[in-house]
Amino acid sequence: MKRESFKKEFFTENRKKLAGRLSPKSVAIINPNDELTRNGDQDFPYRQSSDMFYLTGLIQEKCILTLCPDHPEESMREIVFTIKPNKQLETWTGHKYTKEEVQRISGVKTVKWLEDFDMTFRDLVLSSENIYVNLNEYAKYLTDVEYMNNRFALKIKEMYPAHNLRRLAPFITGQRLRKKPEEIRVLKAACEITNRAFRRVLGFTKPGVMEYEVDAEITYEFLKNGAQGHAYQPIIASGRNALVLHYIENSMVCSDGELMLLDFGAEYNNYAADCSRTIPVNGKFTERQKQCYEAVLRVQKEAIKLYVPGNTIDKVNKAVWKMMEKEMIGLGLFSEEDVKNQDPAEPLYTKYLMHGVAHFIGLDVHDVGGKYEKFEKGMVLTCEPGLYIEEEGIGIRIENDIVVGDSPIDLMADIPREVRDIEALMSK
Ligand code: GLY
Ligand code: MN
Ligand code: MN
Repeated sequence: MKRESFKKEFFTENRKKLAGRLSPKSVAIINPNDELTRNGDQDFPYRQSSDMFYLTGLIQEKCILTLCPDHPEESMREIVFTIKPNKQLETWTGHKYTKEEVQRISGVKTVKWLEDFDMTFRDLVLSSENIYVNLNEYAKYLTDVEYMNNRFALKIKEMYPAHNLRRLAPFITGQRLRKKPEEIRVLKAACEITNRAFRRVLGFTKPGVMEYEVDAEITYEFLKNGAQGHAYQPIIASGRNALVLHYIENSMVCSDGELMLLDFGAEYNNYAADCSRTIPVNGKFTERQKQCYEAVLRVQKEAIKLYVPGNTIDKVNKAVWKMMEKEMIGLGLFSEEDVKNQDPAEPLYTKYLMHGVAHFIGLDVHDVGGKYEKFEKGMVLTCEPGLYIEEEGIGIRIENDIVVGDSPIDLMADIPREVRDIEALMSK
């Protein structure tokens, strides 16, 4: 499959909409991701910041975007700053964008070299009252590692203390939450590549294979089909490893009689798929495994019906936990009586399902948007109930990506999840 990208109109519209939400007399600055050192002179593979991609389509490092919609000179209203290509740089690291390429990809007409940034930005600031900075406002994000937007905000605060510093993140979040048809299309493509990888895994898995060999099969199919790779570190967890929610070592042997929990997704045109499937290593579920698996599957099918306008992640979580509680009683993990007597601060189901069952998905696997955000048509979220029974060594999660609608659309409807389909495909 050939890689694709969006037309420049997608990015132009995104910028226009964002600029329209700024207060009068404002400048907004969007910095790229840093290049992060791995060791010595080696960097980790570069991934553009999702906001920068969303607003420009530029995937090269060191690109800066400024928006100053009320600037008297039209050419100053949207500017991209980028590395000035030179022969030596190109010899070592390859081609860097020309100004024309930046214009063609992003639709931004004014492109300047980074060396012009300081003076130009001063001009933008002095014609503005407000400076919008783009901080990472993801609720679960907490780290000591600084990043370019946050370093920049601190510097600006010091340099221009008489200006109003404002938050850009709520505006960008609002836009990124509401997917356009072309975004749903690439998400669908990411899911389709993930489907191919899963089918490959079904044909490959048998007792004795290593978890990393399963990863290799997935990675092969991803790259072969034009994905950039994994959208996140894949979880290939056989047996008890599935009880570790974020198991990513993927280093153990897959043994006869065990289940294997896979949580993996392709990244395509910078958009993430997020899929979980649970399969029997030897191709046939035991009665107990099947009983537990079908309980989770029943709940997932019911839960997907909740992905309608007006609902929230919080409501979906609560409804699914309740459904899973009922299934757990059916599976004999505890009784109705036990539930009546449970400590409400620590319900019994939390022993067997300790995570939320939905998050937004898009440019990031855990995409922008919080748990009280009201669902609207076109938003995309995961639906991922799970069941983790420590005493039986059973870990199950089934995860599909769903587009909110009056009739929710399952982007992973083609990825096998019925017991009979999984067993039939594994017996081939
Ligand atoms: N793959 C991470 C998650 O399911 O949230
Ligand atoms: Mn997920
Ligand atoms: Mn997942």
